[in-house]
Amino acid sequence: MLILFATMTGNAEDAAEIIAKKLRKAGHVVKVANIEKFSPADLPARGEPVLFTASTWGEGEPPDEALDFWEALEKLPSGSLDGLEFAVYALGDSSYDEFCGFGRKLDETLEAKGGIRIASRAECDCDHEEFVDVWTEQVHAALNDQSAV
Ligand SMILES: Cc1cc2nc3c(=O)[nH]c(=O)nc-3n(C[C@H](O)[C@H](O)[C@H](O)COP(=O)(O)O)c2cc1C
Repeated sequence: MLILFATMTGNAEDAAEIIAKKLRKAGHVVKVANIEKFSPADLPARGEPVLFTASTWGEGEPPDEALDFWEALEKLPSGSLDGLEFAVYALGDSSYDEFCGFGRKLDETLEAKGGIRIASRAECDCDHEEFVDVWTEQVHAALNDQSAV
């Protein structure tokens, strides 16, 4: 699977690496990449899940590096991502009004374009590491359920 991180100061990248390490330990093949290097057209075809770790800046805005991806994603016609399996691990700070605002918008938009959510969105407050085990376990369980079908 692929993990794309959207970060400004590195927390979402750290989260991606932690999640990747746990999933590799559980037997998955995992690539980690900066969302800056991706456009929605590069997303893998059906069959390879994509996880997003994404922080929020400004007032509910994407990190700068994720702006191009986000603008292109919003413009896609609905159905463009039909069958794409995804899950979003959002990082933020609950002292802001738009807590995890970008992660929420990303999660909702991926679904609106046809994606299939394989685990519910994590909304992590300042110390995200307390969320990582539970969320990674949810992703792992969802993928194992699929391979059993
Ligand atoms: C200037 C600034 C604006 C921020 N705006 C928000 C926000 O609107 N909503 C939110 O949940 N978190 C907000 N945050 C918190 C960051 O999302 C949080 O610190 C996150 O862990 C940063 O992750 P990163 O290092 O991957 O970018 C903001 C932080 C800063 C410094």
